[in-house]
Amino acid sequence: MFQLTIHAGDTESQVVAGESYRNLADYLQDGRRVIVITDANILKYYGDFFSAYPVIEIGMGEKNKTLDTLAHIYNRLLEYNADRNSFIVAVGGGIVCDVAGFAASTYMRGIPFGFVSTTLLSQVDASVGGKNGVNFGGYKNMIGAFNQPQFVLCDTTMTQTLPDREFISGFAEIVKAAAIRDAGLFDYLEQNADKAMARDPEVIRHLVVESVKIKADVVEHDEREHGERRILNFGHTFGHAVEVFTGVTHGEAVSIGMMMAARRSVAACGFPQSQVDRLEHLLVRLGLPVTTGARSEDILRILLKDKKRESDFIYLVLLREIGKAVICKTPIEEVKGKKYK
Ligand SMILES: NC(=O)c1ccc[n+]([C@@H]2O[C@H](COP(=O)([O-])OP(=O)(O)OC[C@H]3O[C@@H](n4cnc5c(N)ncnc54)[C@H](O)[C@@H]3O)[C@@H](O)[C@H]2O)c1
Ligand SMILES: [Zn+2]
Repeated sequence: MFQLTIHAGDTESQVVAGESYRNLADYLQDGRRVIVITDANILKYYGDFFSAYPVIEIGMGEKNKTLDTLAHIYNRLLEYNADRNSFIVAVGGGIVCDVAGFAASTYMRGIPFGFVSTTLLSQVDASVGGKNGVNFGGYKNMIGAFNQPQFVLCDTTMTQTLPDREFISGFAEIVKAAAIRDAGLFDYLEQNADKAMARDPEVIRHLVVESVKIKADVVEHDEREHGERRILNFGHTFGHAVEVFTGVTHGEAVSIGMMMAARRSVAACGFPQSQVDRLEHLLVRLGLPVTTGARSEDILRILLKDKKRESDFIYLVLLREIGKAVICKTPIEEVKGKKYK
């Protein structure tokens, strides 16, 4: 079992990887009434355990990451007479954790919460770091908060029940973490791509632990994304636009977005073409897409409304080399003038 504590502001968040979800009770405080928020897939595979608690079920997929779903959760919390002595446990992937984390942060001005993180993508990224929220007005994560869960349990054996496409989606955030911060992890991915695709438990555990370490380190230095945390958006500025426009999974969109950013990094930061090819080769081996069929103008139209935009500039995360990212404040006019594939 691997544990680390993220210290952010005056809060502490405990991340545990390699722990069984069946030990959830060990992480709960006595005297608090636990309410579980989850979705139908989790109830199908793990309902025997989690149905022991009062359950609020939400719909699946990005289309349910909405204010309507929040209203549904608030209504059910009222029905359960939830109050400040209650404790919310979100059990699910990035969508359940993002929505439930925001619901817990806002219901009665905030009640404590924890996550049982069930997808590879949420274990390596989404459930760690304290960002939560919902989509609004056609844009990703427009309404949300920074608020740390008390704990994040990552039971890596739960990823064995994921459909292939969702499992593979998680590799995109692992490649992202390696590309921005850890050339050694990138080498490891190249050496173990086949085992990772075969869901080798030891390889998956190693990838989750190393990705969590990277994310935790970045978040501790800059919880509210004033500076360094922006590097975690590598592949996301382009990726969010691809995700909204094409409806591919979050990980697939991030994979395409990383390739767009990597190609741009060649001229902008001297990122060697050979390393663009290396990134592309790894993503393809991990079953991820590297181009989008969408028109460049459509992606740019959405990108230019990205919330990370500050007046006439946008923050792009580019690479100098594998393992070293740079944040480039880029004039909008310059982004507009370039075609992307
Ligand atoms: N807050 C953050 O810092 C952050 C970071 C990265 C991504 N995200 C967000 O995360 C979301 C994507 O999360 P995701 O990829 O986990 O998708 P998801 O939550 O939609 O889960 C994918 C699918 O897998 C199912 N599932 C979950 N766990 C399962 C299991 N163990 N076995 C079988 N099926 C299971 C779900 O029901 C769902 O259908 C996006 O909305 C993205 O914006 C947030
Ligand atoms: Zn992401």
